[in-house]
Amino acid sequence: MFERVIAAPADPILGLTEAFKADSRPEKINLGVGIYKNEAGQTPVLDTVKIAEKHLLETESTKSYLSIEGNAAYGKEVQKLLFGEDSEIVSSQRAFTAQSPGGTGALHNAAEFAYNHLGIRTIWVSNPTWANHGNIFKAIGLEVKPYDYYDADSKDLDFDAMLKSLEQVQEGDLVLFHGCCHNPTGIDPTLEQWKALAALSASKKVLPLFDFAYQGFATGVEEDAAGLRVFAEQIKELLVASSFSKNFGLYNERVGAFTLVAEDKERGATAFSQVKAGIRANYSNPPAHGAAVVTTILQNPELKAQWIAEVAEMRDRIKEMRDLFVETLAAKGASGDYSFIQRQNGMFSFSGLSKEQVAELKEKHGVYIVGSGRISVAGMTKDNMDALCTAIAAVV
Ligand code: LMR
Repeated sequence: MFERVIAAPADPILGLTEAFKADSRPEKINLGVGIYKNEAGQTPVLDTVKIAEKHLLETESTKSYLSIEGNAAYGKEVQKLLFGEDSEIVSSQRAFTAQSPGGTGALHNAAEFAYNHLGIRTIWVSNPTWANHGNIFKAIGLEVKPYDYYDADSKDLDFDAMLKSLEQVQEGDLVLFHGCCHNPTGIDPTLEQWKALAALSASKKVLPLFDFAYQGFATGVEEDAAGLRVFAEQIKELLVASSFSKNFGLYNERVGAFTLVAEDKERGATAFSQVKAGIRANYSNPPAHGAAVVTTILQNPELKAQWIAEVAEMRDRIKEMRDLFVETLAAKGASGDYSFIQRQNGMFSFSGLSKEQVAELKEKHGVYIVGSGRISVAGMTKDNMDALCTAIAAVV
């Protein structure tokens, strides 16, 4: 039977890593997947994670199953990160969190709940958006529609066009927003724009879904939640998919969370019972380790402060690389104005390079970036910057 199967295309992001590994050129550079690298080009385990893991190794007494939704203490900590320590949403217990296998698992939980229990058939996503969003939502059966976001000429958010396309959204549709560090453009709405988006979403009676995978990589852990918190003030029901791959460096532990915010505790509990039923039929209950690490860090004020400093260190290094990247491109005589790269947030730079230029970078220079022109600034170092900018100057 298997002879009937047609091969799937390579994944635009993870497929690049496979091609990169197979490339025998020693000077190759991988700026495809969003993985933080330090100045030495390594992706180290955070100090706070090592401390928490040591503690867990000494104190963990069982590997028995977690409950379907995972560890309740983890859920509380996630909610505090999202909505703030003193948030009414947390104190009134109208938020419910499921520990999920990565941000992808959380997005899946959200989409499945919306499709099966709210009768939602359409999700709106920004154009462009993370290459995996379409896969996740289509796999559930949702129709994926784009809303305008990026203006290729100004290399900025086209807010008027965004509002205009969101005017077409129907009551009860799901609308995906990137909590911060928009992937792939690195361009986020301002606070005023978030307020306008929340007001529009409220008037249209849509269900917002926040994909929150880079909390702490734009301005700070608290500051980056501003857009979500504006929405939560104006809209009583919303969904959030969190990922801790980047801000805790826990990529391969697959640590995420799906949070459902309801109008009140009773309605939330009923809705969440269906989320749990969906999880039981899917992966039964979540893996424990990564979330236990996150909980250990967030529950301990000293460790939490140390973690916030570690996130700041990653954020600052990426910003430093943005400056150096722009400077080095100019020094290499790359044609064009690249100052927009310094205005972008998070791990990525949406470079404006064409598909042909991206292909040439890979084939001739061993520089791997995503086909959309998205470059992972988090993978740049002082050591690879010269070769990278020389290659870009040669293709533009
Ligand atoms: C990325 O966008 O590079 C990351 O979110 C990793 C992934 O799974 O695609």
